Amino acid sequence: MNAEILAEQANGVLTITLSRADKKNALTNSMYGTLADLIERAEADRAIRVLLVQGDGDIFTAGNDVGEFAAIAMGKGPEERHVHRFLRALAKSTVPLVAAVHGKAVGIGTTMLLHCDYVLLAPDAQLMTPFANLALVPEAASSYLLPLRVGHVRAFEMFALGEPIDANSALAWGLANRICASDQLRAEARRIAEKIATRPAGSLGAMKSLMRNAQTLIAKMDSETEKFEERLSSAEAREAFSAFAEKRKPDFSRISAH
Ligand code: COA
Repeated sequence: MNAEILAEQANGVLTITLSRADKKNALTNSMYGTLADLIERAEADRAIRVLLVQGDGDIFTAGNDVGEFAAIAMGKGPEERHVHRFLRALAKSTVPLVAAVHGKAVGIGTTMLLHCDYVLLAPDAQLMTPFANLALVPEAASSYLLPLRVGHVRAFEMFALGEPIDANSALAWGLANRICASDQLRAEARRIAEKIATRPAGSLGAMKSLMRNAQTLIAKMDSETEKFEERLSSAEAREAFSAFAEKRKPDFSRISAH
């Protein structure tokens, strides 16, 4: 178990809290490993009827740890990349997944919401997918799921410009169910999760597998991973990661497409 992922089980709900607040809940390889373990555990443990994910600190998550991206780009990444197991577990999960999002949800913080079944936002929630700012490509099957959900032009804008979408737009675009006052977000998410947990789990699981084709999602994830890995070691990505580490804006103007 990773100390930066907290898990608590009560009334049929396994609550997962991203808890690396000093780094804005940026997700590390080890955190992905724990998240994957928990989603896999929920699939096998009949006592877990609903998963609820939330974040500690002032934002939901800043997405993948950029320092770890940089290490991978330099060939110094971990031997086993747990993110892939996490993404597959999300694609295959038949346990209803509720998310409570406050502040920013960056990159995979937003794309994981496309795998959630009920999304509650605080009024300050901002969804952003700045893959192009890091010279990367979308992941988590979001290159398929986001255009499907919000239409091509909005998805392109989110991916290419990486600017935050506020809670009202996210709601209007079908990325969330409801906006709820910040001081009630956790309690309300728990109330909804516990309500879903009272419904017949077998029926809900069958419903989820009918509503989401896991094989299609995994095939899309695999093709995204191929391009993602290629992009990670590009000159563009090296510039983006150096800029992040040096706290400056990246300059892509002198790097050609090939
Ligand atoms: N990976 C690693 N560290 C991160 C991080 C990330 N994705 N996001 C934030 N951090 C770290 C910062 O480096 C900083 O560490 P330091 O205190 O040791 O310098 C700390 O978290 C606080 O971040 P800071 O940028 O000062 O907070 P902020 O409130 O000004 O901004 C964000 C918050 C999320 C807007 C900003 O941190 C950000 O843009 N992060 C990168 C997001 C990103 O590109 N993710 C990958 C998407 S594919």
